[in-house]
Amino acid sequence: MRFFIDTADLDQIKEAHDLGILDGVTTNPSLMAKSGITGAKNIEEHYKRIASIVEGDVSAEVIATDYKGIISEGEYLASLAPNIVVKVPMIKDGIKAISYFSQNGIKTNCTLVFSAGQAILAAKAGATYISPFVGRVDDINWDGIALIEEIAEIYAIQMYETEILAASIRSSRHIVQAAKAGADIATCPLSTIMGLFNHPLTDIGLEKFLADYNKGNS
Ligand code: E4P
Repeated sequence: MRFFIDTADLDQIKEAHDLGILDGVTTNPSLMAKSGITGAKNIEEHYKRIASIVEGDVSAEVIATDYKGIISEGEYLASLAPNIVVKVPMIKDGIKAISYFSQNGIKTNCTLVFSAGQAILAAKAGATYISPFVGRVDDINWDGIALIEEIAEIYAIQMYETEILAASIRSSRHIVQAAKAGADIATCPLSTIMGLFNHPLTDIGLEKFLADYNKGNS
């Protein structure tokens, strides 16, 4: 499973990139606003900055919700950098636009996916990625990881090429569960990636190894 970081914060993107395990970045208008990036021009410039830090795909979300608007905004976003992927919402005009982008060599990430039926529509349209929102499904007391499992099973049976990008990851445990459920990628806040390092036995073991080594040096 590949790792994307789910943020617009450049310091966090650089930190994850420096770990050597970062495969891409996802953002959305809320994450941009959280980093203080507002206004179309500033947002575009920020996408360029992000895309220059990482080699992998960077999702840039369209704001338009009508077919023509999504096409012109998506084509513009895709022209900002070679690794920009156009993030399109799971709506009728969005699916139509994903079909157009897929026939014209523009990579897409179908966002706001909450059901297996929506995942089938996006795959049929030729989406490069779909983003099922694990945490937001859990928030309404359904099972976000079960949704990943169901989509992974369907995609395997149907041999769809669309990749499952588990989004709305809220914990390090979610990352492990998404990997087990068959997600191709998990997009995660930096804190959840860093949480994967933690194990008390690692800390205790390292402390003991260092103490034993130093016995001969005191
Ligand atoms: C990423 O593509 C999604 O927009 C993001 O993971 C949503 O996360 P949230 O549900 O924590 O806002």
